[in-house]
Amino acid sequence: MHIDIDEIAKEFGTARALHPVSLSIPNGALVALLGPSGSGKTTLLRILGGLDYPSSGRIFFDGQDTTGLSVQDRRAGFVFQNYALFRHMNVFENIAYGLRARRRRDRPAEAEIIRRVNRLLALIQLPDIGARYPGQLSGGQRQRVALARALAIEPRMLLLDEPFGALDAKVRKELRQGLREIHDATGLTTLFVTHDQEEAMDLADLVVVMSMGRIEQVGKPAEIRARPACAFVRDFVAA
Ligand SMILES: Nc1ncnc2c1ncn2[C@@H]1O[C@H](COP(=O)(O)OP(=O)(O)OP(=O)(O)O)[C@@H](O)[C@H]1O
Ligand SMILES: [Mg+2]
Repeated sequence: MHIDIDEIAKEFGTARALHPVSLSIPNGALVALLGPSGSGKTTLLRILGGLDYPSSGRIFFDGQDTTGLSVQDRRAGFVFQNYALFRHMNVFENIAYGLRARRRRDRPAEAEIIRRVNRLLALIQLPDIGARYPGQLSGGQRQRVALARALAIEPRMLLLDEPFGALDAKVRKELRQGLREIHDATGLTTLFVTHDQEEAMDLADLVVVMSMGRIEQVGKPAEIRARPACAFVRDFVAA
C-alpha cells in the first residue's frame, strides 16, 4: 500500500508534538522513523495506524482519504517495544487471536486458522513453539511472536515502535535481519520507529529523520550519510 501523509500536525493541549509534516511512502517500502526522544516518532506512527487523531492534515492509503477509517478498517499490524503477549494464552493462540476475534462472517474456518498460524511460525523461524507460553520464551522469541501476531490479520501495513528496543545488541541484530527477510517475503509497506541510527541505516530503504516534531530529511541511508540536509542530521547520523 502506498501512503501519503499530507500536512499532519498534532497538538496535545498547548504542546506541539508534530508540526505539519508531509511524507510519501511508496508501496512495499521499509521505512525508518529515526530521531531522538520526543521528536514525534510514536505520535506519527499512532496517527497512521488510527490509534490517535491528527489536529489537522490528512492521510491517504492508495489515494483514499483515511479520515473516516476506523482502526479495524485501516488494518495495520502493530508491534510495540513492550507489547506484552497474552500471558495466559500459548503462542499458537496469541497468533490466532486477531483471527478468532473477528466477526463470525469474517472469521476463517478452524483449519484455515491452523494453516495460517503454522505458516507464520515457520516465517518467524520458530516452528515448534506453538504450545509454549510467553513466559517460557526469550525476549527475542517474544518479539518474533508479536510480529507473527501482527501479520496474522493480513495487515495492509506493518507499524513497529522500537520493536527491538528492550533486547541486547546481538539479539537486536538477528531480529533486524529477521524483519528484513519477513519484509521481503511479504512485501508489506513497513514503518519502524527507532532512535538508533545504525539500526535505521542498516535496515531501511528510506530513512525519515525527525527532530522536535519536524521531518528534517528523507532519503536512502547512503544519501543521508553523504549529504545530510542540516547540522542536526549530520550530527545525529554521525553519533
Ligand atoms: N498523550 C500525550 N499527551 C501530551 N503530550 C504528549 C503525549 N504523547 C506525546 N506527547 C508529547 O509529544 C512529543 C512527541 O512525543 P512522541 O512520543 O511522539 O516522541 P518519540 O519520538 O516517540 O519519543 P521516544 O523516542 O522517547 O519514544 C513529546 O514532547 C511528548 O512529550
Ligand atoms: Mg516513542
